[in-house]
Amino acid sequence: MARKKITLIGGGQIGGIQALMCAQKQLGDVVMLDIPEMEGMVKGKMLDIAESQAVGGYDAKLTGTSDYADIAGSDVVIVTAGLPRKPGMTRDDLLDVNVKIISNVANNVKKYCPDAFCIIVTNPLDSMVYGFKKITGFSKNMVCGMAGVLDTSRFRSFVAMELDVSVEDVAATVLGGHGPTMVPLPRLCTVGGIPLNEVMSQEKIDAIVTRTREAGTEIVKLLGNGSAFFSPAASSLMMAEAYLLDKKSVLTAAAYLEGEYGIDGYYLGVPVVIGAGGVEKIVEVKLTGDEQALLDNSLKAVKTAVVEVDERT
Ligand code: APR
Repeated sequence: MARKKITLIGGGQIGGIQALMCAQKQLGDVVMLDIPEMEGMVKGKMLDIAESQAVGGYDAKLTGTSDYADIAGSDVVIVTAGLPRKPGMTRDDLLDVNVKIISNVANNVKKYCPDAFCIIVTNPLDSMVYGFKKITGFSKNMVCGMAGVLDTSRFRSFVAMELDVSVEDVAATVLGGHGPTMVPLPRLCTVGGIPLNEVMSQEKIDAIVTRTREAGTEIVKLLGNGSAFFSPAASSLMMAEAYLLDKKSVLTAAAYLEGEYGIDGYYLGVPVVIGAGGVEKIVEVKLTGDEQALLDNSLKAVKTAVVEVDERT
């Protein structure tokens, strides 16, 4: 069987970690594409990773390029092209610049790899993935956004830190848009199968919900010059792996909704099954009235950004 081909569009902070993780996980050969001014940088990064392989114990063909012809026939495309946040910025502040970048990327992906499973990471996430699908016209099962895996991972981490237990034993779900309106669902969180509210006070749960919503901003403030990159890289790779290995993983992703959760024609973070068919299924959880209200509120924020994307695409 031929090796799989994974293309990373955007070779910055997240792209570099994604490339290393792709190689380490032996998911396939990796192409990293950036703008012509950054060609040396991506070629350098890929050569550096290639030179780590002999001692790292993994083996992939790694290519850095600015030529879209090199991405032809990719099985997976992960997009991080675009500006990251700086302190004081919201994700929506990136829209103007990033929608132009996403439009350019989408047109090229449509031309060179129309059969790829596409994972968008660029912010503001829910509206960028909407724009990418609109421009490519790809089917909804082949285009999704990475945010829920990361938001859920953050929630799980904070629970594990608070209880001093293994993060592997914490299961959780965070729905909604990738921003301050996201909807962590403590009701569905378990620790080793035990409901969270049996092992943690409501006050602490509330604090973790708040911290999760602001987790990206917390990192932006600490870094001082950019946004999170290790955890977004790991989260997007988990989604790529689910597709490439047909794992049928149940995870939260920005998926195109057509009536599910009472929402039609937008991308929003919901639980999905990812396997060889891409987003094979949207899992509908019965929400309480309060939870649905929070999800509707999150959609409102996404809609505002989508209006701007629609005007520009
Ligand atoms: N085509 C390809 N690559 C591009 C383009 C383009 N049109 N425009 C910009 N890029 C590249 C930049 O040259 C840079 O190398 O995208 C890369 C982005 O890397 P970083 O600035 O390091 O940003 P990063 O931290 O990786 O985040 C990327 O993901 O999580 C989101 O908010 C984050 O929108 C941001 C994106």
